Amino acid sequence: MAHLVRWGILGTGGIARAFAQTLRQTPDARLVAVGSRTAAGAEAFARDFGARTCASYAALVACPDVDIVYVATPHAMHAENAMLALAAGKAVLCEKPFTMNAREAERVVALARSRGLFLMEAMWTRFMPALAALRRIVANGEIGDVALVQADFGFAASVDPEHRLNKRELGGGALLDLGIYPLSIACALLGPVQKLRAQAVIGPTGIDLSTGFTMLHRGGAMSVSNCSLRARTPCELTVSGSLGNVRMERMFHMAQSLTVTAADGSTRSVATPFLGNGYVHEAIAAGEALCAGLLEHPLMTHEETLAGMRTLDEIRAQIGLRYAADDAATAWPA
Ligand SMILES: NC(=O)c1ccc[n+]([C@@H]2O[C@H](COP(=O)([O-])OP(=O)(O)OC[C@H]3O[C@@H](n4cnc5c(N)ncnc54)[C@H](OP(=O)(O)O)[C@@H]3O)[C@@H](O)[C@H]2O)c1
Repeated sequence: MAHLVRWGILGTGGIARAFAQTLRQTPDARLVAVGSRTAAGAEAFARDFGARTCASYAALVACPDVDIVYVATPHAMHAENAMLALAAGKAVLCEKPFTMNAREAERVVALARSRGLFLMEAMWTRFMPALAALRRIVANGEIGDVALVQADFGFAASVDPEHRLNKRELGGGALLDLGIYPLSIACALLGPVQKLRAQAVIGPTGIDLSTGFTMLHRGGAMSVSNCSLRARTPCELTVSGSLGNVRMERMFHMAQSLTVTAADGSTRSVATPFLGNGYVHEAIAAGEALCAGLLEHPLMTHEETLAGMRTLDEIRAQIGLRYAADDAATAWPA
């Protein structure tokens, strides 16, 4: 494969548009085709971003010049769409949450492995400079032995029952859209989850409006996280140890700086600027891994994706949140 990575985008919604912008800012990357459920959808997208249009997802994954497909549909379609691309021999970068549950995730990973194709969850925060800087500070011992991660992620979302976030059939709810971010960073820093407790407020459409979860990690540390579609929270993440703490400042998932506070209360700031709109780092990482012939990225492995999905399943079991995909009779594919 040439060094240039040729991308196809599957779906034409909000994040698909953001990612098309990302590809313009990513070295050695080119958007070559976009697939939509409708010809009109693909054409509208292509007018803005200049890609070849495919009037179905099947047509997109059949494009011989597409190296990797970015799956940008609602959660409930991720497994089906990722497997469509993998079955057509394409590498896949799949939006978060990777699938609706661990069972779906296992099937997608198994297909990628059996086909020898690169597959990655688009957990872009894994590749952000702020997380790399945070890991370095922790590894240097500056804040001592890490014991606790606290994080929140909330905003006042649309209350329209037709909005993706409120539609149970599309996988709506705060946990899968927002809670997954603190969960992912907590696991990246503290390791796999051993035990957890969760509570939620369930809204009129049957999805979680606010969810809180406390996790005990295998290394002995703890994380406390909450997410909400009804509360404008500070969106901060703090990692605390015996000698001090590090805070990823407001909008922690795209932090431009960290604040390190020592035991005597003194602080220092660490700048963590990111490229473009932030997604550039995951696009570079996926492209490099693909060109290197890897099947998974070492910073976002299949095992971590599967572990994350199992943790989300356990939180949902505790808060009583089920989706159609959890029902063996209706789960895709039948
Ligand atoms: N990484 C991030 O920061 C980030 C941010 C936002 C969202 N996301 C993730 O990206 C995914 C998409 O979110 P979004 O906000 O872009 O959603 P969106 O604006 O609603 O767009 C979703 C697109 O998926 C396609 N689609 C296929 N089946 C659909 C269905 N039954 N109903 C509606 N659309 C359907 C549509 O494209 P066509 O009609 O052209 O086929 C639609 O435009 C979600 O899984 C979300 O978690 C990630």
